[in-house]
Parts: sequence; C-alpha cells; structure tokens
Amino acid sequence: MTEPVRPIEWHQNNIKITGQISPSELRKFASALYVLTERQGYQDMRLDFSGCTSVFESFMLPIVALCEKCQAEGVDIELVLPDDPILAALFRNANWAYYIDPRRYEQSTFEGMQHVPAIRYRNPDEQHAAVDRVINVILSSLSKIDRSGLKALEWSLNEITDNVLNHAQTEHGGFVQATTFAETQNVEFVVADAGIGIPRSLGIQNHDRALENAIKEGVTRDRGSNAGNGLFGSYSVATISGGRFQIHSGNASLLASAGDQLRIVNDRPRIYPGTVVLVRIDCGKEGLLEQALRFGGVKHDPPFDYIERKFEDSTEGEMTFVLKNEAVSVGSREAGKSVKKKITNLLSMNPGSKLHVDLAGVPIVSSSFADEVFGRLFSELGPIGFMKLIDLKNVDRTVQNLIDRAITQRMQNGTERGV
Ligand SMILES: Nc1ncnc2c1ncn2[C@@H]1O[C@H](COP(=O)(O)OP(=O)(O)O)[C@@H](O)[C@H]1O
Ligand SMILES: [Mg+2]
Repeated sequence: MTEPVRPIEWHQNNIKITGQISPSELRKFASALYVLTERQGYQDMRLDFSGCTSVFESFMLPIVALCEKCQAEGVDIELVLPDDPILAALFRNANWAYYIDPRRYEQSTFEGMQHVPAIRYRNPDEQHAAVDRVINVILSSLSKIDRSGLKALEWSLNEITDNVLNHAQTEHGGFVQATTFAETQNVEFVVADAGIGIPRSLGIQNHDRALENAIKEGVTRDRGSNAGNGLFGSYSVATISGGRFQIHSGNASLLASAGDQLRIVNDRPRIYPGTVVLVRIDCGKEGLLEQALRFGGVKHDPPFDYIERKFEDSTEGEMTFVLKNEAVSVGSREAGKSVKKKITNLLSMNPGSKLHVDLAGVPIVSSSFADEVFGRLFSELGPIGFMKLIDLKNVDRTVQNLIDRAITQRMQNGTERGV
C-alpha cells in the first residue's frame, strides 16, 4: 500500500511542501518552522517546493512574513522552487522567491497589470506607496469601475495595512499583495504579518471568540486612540459587494463570503503566530460606499481618495493626467492598453469632466501606443466628444504628428469597415 502524500512533511532541517496546498496547511507549516528553528535550533533551513503543484496567496504571503522574521533572527533559508515551470515563474514574479531567499533570487521586475507582487512595508510612507500601487493597477486593468466601489476598496486597503503598523508589534512590517479579475471587476488583496496576532492584541484567550469579536463594530484594543471600524467595515464592504473576507490569526480562521453563513474554524493546538487578512471586493458595485460603510448608523465617506489626490485639479471638475508618470512605457501596444483603461476609467468616474493629458517629457511614442490610446479614444468618444473631454498639453512636435497619424488612420480604417 502506498502512503498518502502529506502536503507538509519535514525531516531534519528540510521542510517539503507537496501537491496542491490549501490555506489550512498554513499552521502545519508554521509549527514545522517553529519546531525546527526554535526548539531544535536549526540555523539553516531548506524549504523544498519542488513537488508543489498549486498554492494560494493567503498561504504564501504569511509564509513570506514568517521567513523574513526567521532570517532577521539569523536563520538562513534556502528555497527550492517548484518543478512546475509556471508555478516557479509565479514564485519569482510574485516576489515570494526574493523575500524567502534573497541571496539566490532577485526582486521581481514583473510589470504585469493584473497582479501586484508581494510588497513589504514597515512605515506609513511605504504603506501608502504600496496602497497607491494597488489602486494604480486596478485603474489600469479593470473597466467599468464604480467610483464608490473603488473608494471603498481603497479605504479597506488602508485600514487593513494600517492595522499591521498599529497593532502587530513587529519591526519586520507587513506584506501586501493583490490580484484583479477583469471579467468581474473583483479585486482581492491579502495582508500578512508575523506579529502578535489578533487574539493577543485584543487580550482574548479563546481565539474563535477573538476573531468573532474583532469584526464587530467598535471593537478595538484601545478605545482611546482607535475607532474599531477597520475590520468591521472591511468585512461589510467585502460581503455586501458580493466578495469574500477571511482572517487567519492564532489558531482560528474566520471565513465569510457573500450569501454564506459566517464560519469560524479552529486548528488547535497549531497556531499561525501573526495575522493574515484577505479581502475580495467587487469594485463594479454601485453605491457600495453608502451601503457598506456605516458607523454608528451614520454613512462614512472617506475625506479623499486616490482619484482626487492624483488627478483632480483644484479647478472645479477638471483633471490632469501626467503621461510620464502614468505609463510604464510609451513604446508598446500593451502599455497603451493600460493607459487607455486608466483614462477611460477617469472619464467615466467623473462624467463630463475635462481631462488634461500632459505629455511633457515625452519626446516620442510608438505608433502602436498612439493608436491604442489616442486612436481608440478618438473613435470611441467621437470628434466632438474627444475635443470636449480631452486636452493635450505640452505635446512635442514629433509626438503630435504620431498622434495625428494614429487618429487619421483609425478614422480611415473605421470608414472602410463601415464602423
Ligand atoms: N494585524 C494585526 N495584528 C494584531 N492585532 C490586530 C491586527 N489587526 C487588527 N488587530 C486587532 O483587532 C482590533 C480591531 O481592528 P480594527 O477593526 O481595525 O480597529 P482599530 O484598528 O480601530 O482598533 C485592533 O484593535 C487590534 O486589537
Ligand atoms: Mg484598524
């Protein structure tokens, strides 16, 4: 008889992760790492993912946080990538390989527009930069985003990432990662830390009860300095939008998805020594902010948002889009697609507002980029709409010729095809 494959096995300083890993394996991994490094005192660990065939972000991000902590305490970790080349590429692109084993793997340079790789943040500046990076990817990859849905997401992302700096009591900071789903306007983000965990922070011994309480309105470790709305509001936004919400901390996990009963499951005596929060929000949901963010019965409207901070001018109802800062490159059709999505989102989130596209510092664009952005916008908005809504500023002569040509060609092709 063959032995059933156990997803997490360890022998001496080697932890082997095999097959399809589910998030519930997290605590087995955490206890293996704890036993080997703390109790048996191994200073050099080997994490062998060679036989691993699939993983979840909500499994990998806390592993990254744990490994970072071990390394800071002097443990050397060697990572063996999955044999499966696609999964191995994901380990590199998502920055997991780099954070787990920085001596052997480089930081990811992946610029794909559907994922934000794992980012570590240790202070408010790094936290805000990480949040901005996620919002930028959402604007560049999803269409038909609702302004209030995006604002709700930004609020939640700020709250959950802030909790690490505010409550986790770890100098190693937090990790955030996000994925956008173009077909559904869904965005899922995971935040993980290897800090003290929610039960300890709230001083509640029963971990199930700690998590159940943590998502209640007004529950906080310190009423003097906190409002206790971050987890409650995020849970509401996620479930009301039709998404999902999870917390894994200590030995308990809280799992909620729209339409299903809230579940709390327990892995006693194994613990995850820290906190993982997963939030999935449908950013296409109209009026999400008004419906989901209510504290003390009063609608909560965050004072500002990314769109306002980055694009809206003080002049009533006008926006500025500085191409140099907004485009990954101006040389390819792919880069053009992201810019076009972003501009279309801005126009639809601020109906009727004029958008000044500032092309300062852009000496040249490729014809495919010009076509994908300006050719398409012109044909979708029509000449009058384009003139009313788009104002090109600081355009270099060469770039102007390229844009002119892209628009003319698109018009001619459109006429030939009868569209
Ligand atoms: N990452 C974390 N690490 C430890 N404790 C946390 C973490 N996130 C949340 N908590 C605990 O959950 C409580 C509720 O969090 P939240 O709803 O955001 O309210 P607030 O941050 O205003 O206290 C916090 O007061 C803290 O005790
Ligand atoms: Mg909070």
